[in-house]
Amino acid sequence: VTYLSGDYYTEETYLNLKKNIEGRSASSSIAPDVVYYLSTPASLYEGIVTQLSENGLLDDSDGTKKRVVIEKPFGSDLESAKELDASLSKILSEEQTYRIDHYLGKETVQNILMLRFANMIFEPLWNNKYIDNVQITAAESIGVEHRAGFYEQTGLLRDMFQNHMFQMLGLVAMEAPSSFDADSIRDEKVKLLKSIRPCSPGEVDEYFVRGQYDSSDTMNGYRSEDNVNEKSVVETFAAAKILIDNWRWKGVPFYLRSGKGLAKRVSEIVITFKQVPHSIFGGSGDGLMPNKLVLNVQPEEGVSLSFNAKQPGPKLCMGNLNMDFKYADVFPADKADAYARLLLDSMLGDQTLFIRKDFIEKAWELLTPVLKAWKARGDDGLELYPAGSWGPESSDELLNKDGLKWHKS
Ligand code: BG6
Repeated sequence: VTYLSGDYYTEETYLNLKKNIEGRSASSSIAPDVVYYLSTPASLYEGIVTQLSENGLLDDSDGTKKRVVIEKPFGSDLESAKELDASLSKILSEEQTYRIDHYLGKETVQNILMLRFANMIFEPLWNNKYIDNVQITAAESIGVEHRAGFYEQTGLLRDMFQNHMFQMLGLVAMEAPSSFDADSIRDEKVKLLKSIRPCSPGEVDEYFVRGQYDSSDTMNGYRSEDNVNEKSVVETFAAAKILIDNWRWKGVPFYLRSGKGLAKRVSEIVITFKQVPHSIFGGSGDGLMPNKLVLNVQPEEGVSLSFNAKQPGPKLCMGNLNMDFKYADVFPADKADAYARLLLDSMLGDQTLFIRKDFIEKAWELLTPVLKAWKARGDDGLELYPAGSWGPESSDELLNKDGLKWHKS
């Protein structure tokens, strides 16, 4: 491993890089394919790619592969994403462009596909006949840490919803692709996003909640963090109710929430099944806990299924049991990092776990009205929540209105 430092803006940097790459490929037997990974502020992507191109670093006329990995967020709303795409696509083909979302490199996120499409038992139940609601949570206990500069421009919705949350939603809710190749999977995810009911500016408060962490005994509030404007209205928490208008999901609410400064770090997908239609054990059946399938994305990666069972003894008492699978118990040595997996895929030219342009645009199309409505209202509607809690009260109300509660992680 070696490095070369230089200014993004000066040609000299790119000429040095070129010399360095040429020197390395001349002295080794490794194919001189190159992956450029841009983990820079989004405003620099266009300039860097232009310089790479003008200085011959993307030249693949000799049959080598030149690929560019681009970090999220890709643009900051629908318009800017389209503009960025229009300028990058003058230089890069879609096959060369790898829009990264590290959630897709997580074993547990990839396992959603295996669970759904490599097993027969789930698919017949995976619809509005048997599923009552789905909850997707990506919670972090840490605050914004040293990333205030980035976060003040971005906020939670752009940082987590437009990409990680929508990717998880896509994998849980999409139809079965015809094969495991990049485009079949990406086609289905885009189709799913197209079925999401758009939220008009007037409906934002009904379907979306935003919050910002405030000081608590253990943590500074967002506005007291270094380099954060003391009147900042940037959201560090968002929750949403998403409705999907297709045959499979009509009537099943999907609740999404993500935030910083929350009670604990946990990412999970909770699928709650409907109650039994009639309880033969007396009463209305309300005493029976609905079955839940929990896909634990992190930190305790695994899958758990809850069901009702009889407690031992002469009386007819119900107990709720969990059938648990924990990755760590079964694969103790496997600690592959999501980025390692994705960077390897980019070297191998496999785009399955990368995001296609149409997914990004569709995701922005769904979220841009929300971003605009929030921007227009400033701090009106932004709820403060104590750091270390589970977010603002409205997040609970979003579910209470439907007679539900967030799953206790
Ligand atoms: C990043 C966000 O994409 O994901 C961060 O920019 C966030 O704000 C991080 O902290 C969370 O990733 P993970 O893998 O820790 O859940």
